[in-house]
Amino acid sequence: MPNRVIVGAQWGDEGKAKVVDYLTEDADYVIRFQGGANAGHTVEVGDQKFVFHLLPSGLMHPGKACVIGNGVVLDPAQLLHEIEEVRVKGIDARGRLWLSEAAQVVLPTHKLLDQLKERAAGKDAIGTTGRGIGPAYYDKVNRCGIRVGDLLEDDELREKLERILSVHNEIIVRQYKGEPVSLDAVFVEYRGLGEQLRPYIADCVALLGTAVKQGKGLLFEGAQGTILDVDHGTYPFVTSSNTVAGAACTGSGVGPTAIQQSIGVVKAYTTRVGNGPFPTEISGVLGSELRRIGNEYGATTGRERRCGWFDAVVVRRAAMVNGLTHLAVTKLDVLDTFKELEVCVAYELDGKRIEHFPASLARLERMKPIYETLPGWQQDTTEARRFEDLPENARKYLHRLSELVDVPIGLLSLGPKRHQTIRMGL
Ligand code: IMP
Repeated sequence: MPNRVIVGAQWGDEGKAKVVDYLTEDADYVIRFQGGANAGHTVEVGDQKFVFHLLPSGLMHPGKACVIGNGVVLDPAQLLHEIEEVRVKGIDARGRLWLSEAAQVVLPTHKLLDQLKERAAGKDAIGTTGRGIGPAYYDKVNRCGIRVGDLLEDDELREKLERILSVHNEIIVRQYKGEPVSLDAVFVEYRGLGEQLRPYIADCVALLGTAVKQGKGLLFEGAQGTILDVDHGTYPFVTSSNTVAGAACTGSGVGPTAIQQSIGVVKAYTTRVGNGPFPTEISGVLGSELRRIGNEYGATTGRERRCGWFDAVVVRRAAMVNGLTHLAVTKLDVLDTFKELEVCVAYELDGKRIEHFPASLARLERMKPIYETLPGWQQDTTEARRFEDLPENARKYLHRLSELVDVPIGLLSLGPKRHQTIRMGL
């Protein structure tokens, strides 16, 4: 099979986990390469529903190996909790799950600092998930982070923790007037967590490098979405990692020539959690209706997702920065009852038509969407098994999305179950 990277092409929550779950059938390895427990990946298998934050969703498939790459910021207690959650349901991660020794570790103080900073920011808050993601990446880039491999070394861990906690505690106490966090307590807890993780820790670069040489199939599972990317998103209302396809390489140690397909997952409409601009947001009753039908509540925080029309400007940008070879369109069925659908084809600024998503937040905030209205199909699509089974207006809607973005549709999802999927050339 071609090696594939699957990324969100909007603001996250596009339904990537289901697409990854579906395409895992073709793969030998499923690899997470960025983000951390801020992600919320929901997979439904039979009557069971699983929500993973850190575990690659490929773990649900017996015989497939899963990797958490060096680009991830890993919360050890959260990961062990998820491993235990699947274990009681009969899925053993031992021998199938591998953690990069170079992945960064999320500390309790990272979570605390994330929450304190957000609280202090008031109306300027980013709306983070509070999982310590930003502070953990900050320490990584600042070259003082703790890596997974460090959790196995007594002296080294203590020394590194001492250094990093003294900086964190200084900020917690001086800036936020909080209580300092005990070095001894964190050392004992994290050293213990390291021992529990020991059987899973590996040199994942060598593991994946060998897999590539042997012609094994790799599936890279992105988290969040392109417009939350720290470089390409609506900065500063973004997450702290690169969420784009290129991050699959830096976040796993696999070179770009080993990846043949880049699949962008898009909802048939748009959602966003957290603050920041969202040009096609629908306010009022229609927005609430979309949220209700699509069950648009965050898998990690339970927050209401903001809902809006499909924005081709956003997805065109995602097609560029990810080099998308295919789109996977999800939740088409959520639009089944709408009489008419708007699609944003371009923006307007000071009387000019703008085709490209701007890097400047100030400019984006002033842009107005230019809509094209398409007729709805007002029929149930959840039982369609082939593209030809879909109502004509649904097919026209999909053709138009693909045309506006200039990327073919490779997969279509019409509900949360595995069988509610139409494969189209992938
Ligand atoms: P952080 O990643 O927790 O720092 O949050 C930064 C921004 O990314 C906030 O707007 C979050 O709501 C958003 N975010 C983080 N993870 C996800 C996700 O998995 N889906 C959707 N939005 C996310």
